[in-house]
Formats: sequence, structure tokens, C-alpha cells
Amino acid sequence: MRWNLNRVKSGYSGETRHTVQSAKLVHRTWGRHSPPCDILATVHLDYPALPMTLMDPRLLSALRTARRVVIFTGAGVSAESGIPTFRDKQTGLWERFDAAELATPDAFERDPALVWGWYEWRRTMVSNAQPNPAHLAIAAMATLVPELTVITQNVDDLHERAGSREVLHLHGEILRPYCEKCRHPYTLPMRQPPAGGTRIEPPRCNSCNGRVRPGVVWFGESLPRRQWLTACEAARRCDVFFCIGTSSLVQPAASLTDLAIAAGATTVHVNPNSTDIDDAVTFALREPAGKILPLIVAEARRPT
Ligand code: APR
Repeated sequence: MRWNLNRVKSGYSGETRHTVQSAKLVHRTWGRHSPPCDILATVHLDYPALPMTLMDPRLLSALRTARRVVIFTGAGVSAESGIPTFRDKQTGLWERFDAAELATPDAFERDPALVWGWYEWRRTMVSNAQPNPAHLAIAAMATLVPELTVITQNVDDLHERAGSREVLHLHGEILRPYCEKCRHPYTLPMRQPPAGGTRIEPPRCNSCNGRVRPGVVWFGESLPRRQWLTACEAARRCDVFFCIGTSSLVQPAASLTDLAIAAGATTVHVNPNSTDIDDAVTFALREPAGKILPLIVAEARRPT
């Protein structure tokens, strides 16, 4: 297994609240109903036949016959919605910083206004962004296979807004800050920080006056236990595992791909750039997710 010890989040915690929050988020976005079918249909049905140079027909066959499919996403799936990935160079006030350096409890302790300002800037970006064709194709895949599990490292809600349900957020949710002392959720008004970002003092909890922190999992912190265990189980049991838009550098999340490989699943990596897992997966598709995923869905829907 590949482990990068500088990039480890811990695999377990006693915290289960994230799962409930995730389900609530879906209900808030779509009510108790599925997303409108026409949203999914219009995006995918009109695609031309898939150029077979882009994809091995054995992948389509695996997808058509699969009972359980896992979609595991990273920052690359939201890149085409305008949200920079973690390895992209930072801009504005944060130009001098590596994103991974800001995403730690130590950084928040040292300079809360800098870190909170950065997350507020990212939160605004997420709120202003729209799901892209990759998010929509992933939501549409749920209509193709009996069981689809969506697991993401992303803290945005673009999968949910595209129509995916019960998304497992391994690294938390940026739209759900909470008090670091009593863990009460904190409702934040939406502000528009200046374009380059600015330092902002974190607000105080309404119940205990503790400091409010971003609702994300930082390096060195534990992943939400139930979501992590559910994700591992899904990776072990699936027939087809898609790993999309991730550098696969951050553990333990990246080990899900290893679990699927070890369990004998057909594994597919979608990334325009090469990464270490290209040689380990069954199919490495060097394409942007927003280009290749709608084609795959359209092709898998085509009558054989
Ligand atoms: N389609 C698919 N992949 C893309 C696209 C695209 N359009 N654009 C970029 N990528 C790829 C990049 O080539 C890169 O390999 O997405 C990957 C993004 O990698 P990272 O920025 O490392 O993001 P991720 O793997 O999600 O990071 C994992 O690290 O900082 C922490 O907690 C944070 O969840 C994050 C974790």
C-alpha cells in the first residue's frame, strides 16, 4: 500500500454526526424527492457515440453488468466548476501558502483569522459554483446500476446539488461550521469577501461562546467513523470502482482504491494527469472528468 505520512488523516473517530448532516443536506436541496429527471436526462442523452479510442469496451461491459458501483472523488471533479484543486497554486492573500499548510489544527491555533478568512473565501467560491457535467453524470449513474455509492474527499456540496444522494463526505463539509468547544453547528450568513480574500476573525458560538471552526477534517484529525467504515465496506464489495480527480496522495482516503483493487473490482482512474495509481488500476482514462464521464454514461445507456 502507498502511504504518504505527511498527508495522513486518521481513519476513525467516535463522531457520527456527519452522516446525519449529509442526509439532511440532500433533503434540504431536493426536498424528499429525487432531483428532477430532466436535469439528468438533458445533459447526457444527446452525447454522440463514444470514440472508442477514449475507452476500452470492456469497461462499458463491466459497468453494464455491475451490481455495485463506487464513485470516489477528489478536488479534480470540482475543478471544472471553478474550484481550485489543493495542488493548484494559491492566489490572493494566500499566494505564499500551500493549501495543505492552512488545513491543520496548528495553523488555526497560530493564526485563526488567516485560516478562517481562507475558508470563508473558499466557502463563497463553493456557494457561487455550479455542478459541472461530471457531477451530473455521476448523479445519472445512479439510474444505471442497482447500487451506487458516492464517496468524496471534497468539502463542497456539488454532488448533492447535482442530485447524488447520501454522499459520504470523508473530509467534512465546508458549509457546516461548528463550535470547537461544544460542537454545536453554527449558521453562517453568506458574505462576499473581497476578490483576493481577507483575514476574518472566526465568530463565537451562540451557546457557549467557544470559537467556531470550519466543518472540515484537517490533517491529523479523524475521519467521521461511520462514513469511513461505510466507504471501506463499499470499496470492498463493489464490482466497479471509479477513482475520479484525486492525486491519491492523502491517506487514509486514497487507500479505498487499494481496497477495491485487492477485492478484485474493475478499477477506473479518471484524471487528465498521470498519478501513481495509473499502473495499478484496470483502466486509466487521461481525460477531464467533465468530458469523459458524460460520454461513459451516455454510452452505457445506449441499447446494446
Ligand atoms: N478532471 C479530473 N481530474 C482533474 C481535473 C479534471 N477536470 N482537473 C484536475 N484534476 C486532477 C489533478 O490532476 C489532480 O491529480 O485532480 C487531482 C486533484 O488532486 P488534489 O488537489 O491533491 O486533490 P485531492 O486528491 O482531492 O486531495 C485530497 O487533500 O488537501 C487535502 O483534504 C484535502 O480532500 C483533500 C485531500
